[in-house]
Amino acid sequence: MSQRRLFVTTALPYANGNFHIGHIMEYIQADIWVRFQRMQGHAVNFVGADDAHGAPIMIAAEKAGKTPQQFVADIAAGRKPYLDGFHISFDNWHSTDAPENHELARQIYRDLKMAGLISTRTIEQFFDAAKNMFLPDRYIKGTCPKCGTKDQYGDNCENCGAVYAPTDLINPYSALSGATPVLKNSEHFFFQLSDQRCVDFLENWTQDGKLQPEVANKVKEWFSVRTNPDGSQSEGLGDWDISRDAPYFGIEIPDAPGKYFYVWLDAPVGYLASLKNLLEKRGEDYDAYMASPGLEQYHFIGKDIVTFHTLFWPAMLHFSGRKTPDNVFVHGFLTVNNGEKMSKSRGTGLDPLKYLSLGMNPEWLRYYLAAKLNARNEDIDFNADDFMARVNSDLVGKYINIASRAAGFIAKRFAGKLGEVSADGDALLSVLADQKDNVTSLYEFREFAKASREVMLLADRVNAYVDQNKPWELAKKEGMDARLQDVCTVCIEAFRLLTIYLKPVLPGLAAQVEGFLKIAPLGFADAGARLGGGHLIGDYQHLMQRVDIKQLDALFEPPAQAEQAQTAIESIAPGGEKKSTPTVGAHASSLPPGGAGLALGRPGGEEMAPTISIDDFSKIDLRIALIVNCEAVEGSTKLLRLTLDVGEGTNRNVFSGIASSYKPADLIGKHTVMVANLAPRKMKFGISEGMVLAASHADDKAQPGIYVLEPVAGALPGMRVR
Ligand code: 2FM
Ligand code: ZN
Repeated sequence: MSQRRLFVTTALPYANGNFHIGHIMEYIQADIWVRFQRMQGHAVNFVGADDAHGAPIMIAAEKAGKTPQQFVADIAAGRKPYLDGFHISFDNWHSTDAPENHELARQIYRDLKMAGLISTRTIEQFFDAAKNMFLPDRYIKGTCPKCGTKDQYGDNCENCGAVYAPTDLINPYSALSGATPVLKNSEHFFFQLSDQRCVDFLENWTQDGKLQPEVANKVKEWFSVRTNPDGSQSEGLGDWDISRDAPYFGIEIPDAPGKYFYVWLDAPVGYLASLKNLLEKRGEDYDAYMASPGLEQYHFIGKDIVTFHTLFWPAMLHFSGRKTPDNVFVHGFLTVNNGEKMSKSRGTGLDPLKYLSLGMNPEWLRYYLAAKLNARNEDIDFNADDFMARVNSDLVGKYINIASRAAGFIAKRFAGKLGEVSADGDALLSVLADQKDNVTSLYEFREFAKASREVMLLADRVNAYVDQNKPWELAKKEGMDARLQDVCTVCIEAFRLLTIYLKPVLPGLAAQVEGFLKIAPLGFADAGARLGGGHLIGDYQHLMQRVDIKQLDALFEPPAQAEQAQTAIESIAPGGEKKSTPTVGAHASSLPPGGAGLALGRPGGEEMAPTISIDDFSKIDLRIALIVNCEAVEGSTKLLRLTLDVGEGTNRNVFSGIASSYKPADLIGKHTVMVANLAPRKMKFGISEGMVLAASHADDKAQPGIYVLEPVAGALPGMRVR
């Protein structure tokens, strides 16, 4: 088979929040496919990036008191624990605000302009005079023109479902400033998708059989009819408004000061920018790579962004003289426990970082998702009971079990040496090896659920062979050593074959197996070979635990409620502040003596502070925070800049005077305790959004050292400390 060159991406996540389980599902799906291709010997460049631009990010940054650049950098700093944690093998992670993207987006625009496909038109839009900006539809609210419900968004009513234009709202107001918006004209730039050249190209590109049939059918409708913002319908493709007025966080349009590309224009260009950045880091030429014959380009995306990827993006590429994608692979949404846990009040369903910090194996999730994913854009549901059953019964009970049933005998009885395989075992191994083409074709066509089902059926056959031959009985019988070694060898050989088939899904486990079998990294080509008699394997160490129901209970436990906090407090101190509290003296005398030469009663070098009530204490909202990033602060010897995840979906920026005691690398990935409701403070280097708790002696000369608090393992970001 000749080596293919593949360029693969996942959709670029908006840089205004941490990853949720939907992102992780998409990355796992793409990663399985990419790892499969690499195992086939193909050359893959798999890239991602943050989608940094747009009004919502600009507004969120302003609220957080940060520049948009700092805001997106803080979000980007939190990506690594997720990607590493779930074994996502991106070759590069970049940003749509990077110079490569500015340059590429502007060049593509110039090329489209040269092709005569850019026009300008004056449009009338709501303008917020208080903020001095045009308002995106989602920032205009008002009373529904149909049912009269107040505070509805500018595009549709959540009460009656009516669809309308923002200008139809009664008493419209700006969700940013509260001001009444005024209508104002502005010149906008359009990509003329209605041009017959575009229509002809896209009709062919979307209907030539490459797209998933259900995607192609949906796209077809857009050529005949389209829904306008006011709910009315028009014929055919409309032109696409690609500009936004300043202030906007984005890329300025060439020769159009104050006009920026709409975020969706430069977002997919970010795929190319991340690739270019990767190739340049490696000293390779981007243009040469893109021009290489046979290069294949694929995008994994969710079903909500099909229009952008099957119409706008291929047209942008084609009419700017660039290579178009070979395909766009669309997946459905992930619901959790039939969607019931996805409600806001009960948290975000399945929090990926919480999953990891509970010590749950990332490969359980990879396997479970693989067992559910197919090539269609169907929604899939994460069901806790189903998850436990599939991991425990199939993955551990069927597959891992094969190794654990045989490896001990090989180690103890045959000094780790495999034996010769007789005819029955040989036939079984041939059945397994013969499935290679079937399994690889299922991976190629993203039928991961079918692939895992096939592998489990093969595991069933191996287990039936074990049950027939009963190695545990052979081990007790005289003169059956050769047969015992034969049967156990068949198991190890079979386990190796199944490991090849599961390796795209379970890369970490496969690496452990390779270590235990003392072999080079496995590829699909290795299915044609055997370890062979005489091969020495290592000691077997248990490869995978079963899921414990307690972990699932903890995973789905709703975040602690304020009421619960209150109950806990009352149960400690019935009667609140009236209850007498221990005196300073009594408290102090029960403490161990302080450091050398320190007077009792002044523990840590200072008097105890005056007594406070429990109500005073409960005003301080202490939370567990994960230190997702930590860096030195230029111009300060005292401060470190911490990026903290407090379970809010966005990260916090906190400056802490601990540089004398810690290097940034000491703290990244650790949990700590922070004061989460401290008013933000403007400091010379930026805004500090809270305070991290640390212990130190009052006399830092006599007793130097600052000790950041770290909870006992198991505490999760956002948990309240009380
Ligand atoms: O829908 C989203 O989350 C977008 N940020 C996806 C962008 S994909 C690509 F075009 F960048
Ligand atoms: Zn309504």
